[in-house]
Amino acid sequence: MKDHTPDAPANPWLPVTLRLAGARVLVVGGGEVAARKVRLLLKAAPCIEVVALALNAELTALVEQGLIAKRDAVFDATQVQGCRLVIAATDDREFNRRVAAAADAANVPVNVVDDPAPSSFITPSLVERAPLWVAVSSGGAAPVLVRRLRERIESLLPAGYGHLAAFMERHRPRVKALAVEHRRALWEQFLDGQGAERLLAGDEAAAAVELARLIQGEPARGEVYLVGAGPGDPDLLTFRALRLMQQADVVLFDRLVSPAIMELVRRDAERIFVGKKRNQHTVPQEEINSELVRLAKAGKRVLRLKGGDPFIFGRGGEEIAELSAQGIAFQVVPGITAASGCAAYAGIPLTHRDCAQSCVFVTGHARADGTLNLHWDQLARRGQTVVFYMGVVTLPRVCTELMRHGLPADWPIALVEDGTQPTQRVMIGTLADLPSKVAAAAPSGASLIIVGEVVKLREKLGWFQPTSAT
Ligand SMILES: C[S@@+](CC[C@H](N)C(=O)[O-])C[C@H]1O[C@@H](n2cnc3c(N)ncnc32)[C@H](O)[C@@H]1O
Repeated sequence: MKDHTPDAPANPWLPVTLRLAGARVLVVGGGEVAARKVRLLLKAAPCIEVVALALNAELTALVEQGLIAKRDAVFDATQVQGCRLVIAATDDREFNRRVAAAADAANVPVNVVDDPAPSSFITPSLVERAPLWVAVSSGGAAPVLVRRLRERIESLLPAGYGHLAAFMERHRPRVKALAVEHRRALWEQFLDGQGAERLLAGDEAAAAVELARLIQGEPARGEVYLVGAGPGDPDLLTFRALRLMQQADVVLFDRLVSPAIMELVRRDAERIFVGKKRNQHTVPQEEINSELVRLAKAGKRVLRLKGGDPFIFGRGGEEIAELSAQGIAFQVVPGITAASGCAAYAGIPLTHRDCAQSCVFVTGHARADGTLNLHWDQLARRGQTVVFYMGVVTLPRVCTELMRHGLPADWPIALVEDGTQPTQRVMIGTLADLPSKVAAAAPSGASLIIVGEVVKLREKLGWFQPTSAT
């Protein structure tokens, strides 16, 4: 049997949340450490008194603003009487311990900063999304681990969760009218569906409408998430993209969405490939549009996952125009576009004070009849970077036109294949020789072309080492 002797508990610290409204809190100390504690306490305690010979600038300002009170210069044991908490935060360890002894004698919980032995409480590491708090504590055993955990939780919790919690608190009375067994299911439906998403997107009125529908017993409505998955490296996803990927019921994805990113989509979500490869339009755009509408109307949370950014050569605008016309809720999550991702991982800044004051994104995709009608005179300019998406096939034409419109034959140009991914390849050359180098290397992955003097900077700034480059 386990030893449960009262003097040897597995963990002597129990996290609790304490009501500080209307209670006095005493802080002894007037320096940076005391100020740090006061900053935290101010989030919950309206009545803070400080005892210190001198206050630092921050505490002085708080006293002047009437947010805290300076009680006395010198500590004495009677000051702890009637307090709900005492914090000893001077830089004198022995003095702090005397403060702790006085608080203990008066049965007032006391914390000695950075000294757990004489403390009767310690403050956990906190993630704040008021009124929501997440507290992490190891009881002083592993503070660095606790900090790591706190950082991870911080990155997982959307910034809007505070609004969400406050909304739920405000609407609790409406939901209380329902039978107990239905309340929890209703809130779960709200959190999993359009209601919570509307609120996180800042539309409180739409969230309230959705809640009202659920209270009436109407089924949850579907929504489309148009999400940019970035250029391939899963580390480049946004927090919001990841959250929506993990709650979708069905995902429609492109060829450009890397397998490593698809790994992060909710395991049991239905997967529909609607990818397009050059000259192979697997699923016509109109069909994708109507499939999105059909699935959302069936009440599904539909993830439309696209490579890069949905609004940059991604036809995202057409897809949501159809959704909007059909009255279907949607949200758009930007992604890192191929130009930014490829440039960063190839060590080629897109702008540079000395050689490129502007940057243009252009499509190099030829029309069905083979023509590529671009404003060549505007593209063939010094002092700018031009990025061609979908330009591998037309690369020889691009180089010829740029030279014909005034750029020199030795003007720098690069092709980045599978940018940001373990298979990334970067080919560097000039307008005169890159087409033959590329023809020899025969890239088969997604490839982006960067034209301009910034390409030369790669020599010094290249940093990414693909793991399986040839
Ligand atoms: C239809 S466009 C989609 C662009 C995407 N919406 C974006 O913002 O990056 C497809 C083109 O993007 C470029 N591309 C996308 N991902 C790439 C990557 N990882 N490496 C190189 N080029 C990429 C290629 O030029 C490809 O032909």
